[in-house]
Amino acid sequence: MSLPVMPTRILIVGGGGREHALAWKLASEPGVNEIFVLPGSDGIAEEPRVRIVAADPSNASDVVAIARSFAAELVVIGPESPLAVGVADDLIDAGIAVFGPTAAAARIESSKAFCREIATAAGVPMARGRAFRAADRHAARELAAEFAASGGAVVKVDGLAGGKGVVVCDTADEAADAIRAIEGDLVVEERLDGREASVIALCDGREALALPISRDYKRLGDGDTGPNTGGMGAYSPLPDLPDEATDEILGRFHRPVLGELARRGTPFRGALYAGLMLTAAGPRLLEFNARFGDPETQVILPRLAGPLGPVLLAAARGSLRAVSPLPVDPRAAVGIVLAAEGYPGDPRRGDPIEGIDDARYAGSLVFHAGTARRRGGGWGTNGGRVLTVVDVGGDLEDAQFAADRGAAQISWPGMQRRHDIASHVASSNPVPQAAAS
Ligand code: AMP
Ligand code: GLY
Repeated sequence: MSLPVMPTRILIVGGGGREHALAWKLASEPGVNEIFVLPGSDGIAEEPRVRIVAADPSNASDVVAIARSFAAELVVIGPESPLAVGVADDLIDAGIAVFGPTAAAARIESSKAFCREIATAAGVPMARGRAFRAADRHAARELAAEFAASGGAVVKVDGLAGGKGVVVCDTADEAADAIRAIEGDLVVEERLDGREASVIALCDGREALALPISRDYKRLGDGDTGPNTGGMGAYSPLPDLPDEATDEILGRFHRPVLGELARRGTPFRGALYAGLMLTAAGPRLLEFNARFGDPETQVILPRLAGPLGPVLLAAARGSLRAVSPLPVDPRAAVGIVLAAEGYPGDPRRGDPIEGIDDARYAGSLVFHAGTARRRGGGWGTNGGRVLTVVDVGGDLEDAQFAADRGAAQISWPGMQRRHDIASHVASSNPVPQAAAS
């Protein structure tokens, strides 16, 4: 095993809470001299050794030019849009190491029809269903009616929709309405029941190294009510899918898909995120994403007990075999998202935020997602998801208590948050082990 190479200058593409967590983690690692974040945010710029660079993250030639001008040894791409338009492809062509898949491999996220095709070919367990062309909506309605009659149907837009392209339907009429509202291609699936889990692996085209397993809360309101969002909170580890289960999960979901993508000539390098439903019959795939989760990353990275930079660089170079698995802190992390009025629709901007420093002094990590410095000082809201407050504790109950206390310090007019992140697990027995069937 050769000594892992530590990148000293890293460019992160993106500017949300996930990228703040990546910048925070990487900037703290030995050997790292400077982190550039494009476009970053005022909040991310507060981290030591971090500089923000104004540019469009989806403009590949600008990203390449900036990576070159900073002599970045590694580029890490956060969001799905730059991946889908091929920013990684241009970096690879320029000979720059990039953690993030090519556009062809990122189709596993950017097309749900492609995801089903690859998962089927790889033998990955998932919901019954089918992809339909826009012209075949009559057949899509028939399949959805069949699923609705036996437990529920799920209608999904084929392309990227910012977490808002999925409708879970109880009746054939609801499914027909959802199908009518979609203009392009779509996917219809049977509805699965259970708790969800996010299993993210760092991949180098062939090998996969697991990150700690986490759980995201997609609905806006307490008790899983209200509309779907990009994610309102997360925690790790999961009582019902402990970190020890990762190898079995990777063998069943990630590795077969990596093999299938490589066989087709589009190997996947980057974070491969399996969204799973833990059903009574075992885990089932809901979707693959081609990137780190947000807000999952904000609770996963505080649990890493070793440097991430060398592992990302090894993955980017196709040499994960040369690095050891990441040591994981056994303690728990809970993250609560604070969102602006109007989210997930049109969020209101410019509200003054109180209490960020108080939460920090109390020991919370506060990751900025949609904030801006106000003229005259202080912070204002500047996006839908505004902040993620994260705390680490001896167990989930401790972490939840601390994150709740941190989040309670922060306020602005119209702020929205959930109060039940990790609470059902902190106080209840673990559900039965989700053994693969
Ligand atoms: P996706 O973007 O495919 O992960 O879907 C977003 C969310 O919709 C998931 O996190 C689930 O909460 C829900 N969902 C997607 N597919 C299904 C399914 N087959 N059964 C039940 N819920 C689903
Ligand atoms: N939190 C869900 C996602 O990143 O897609």
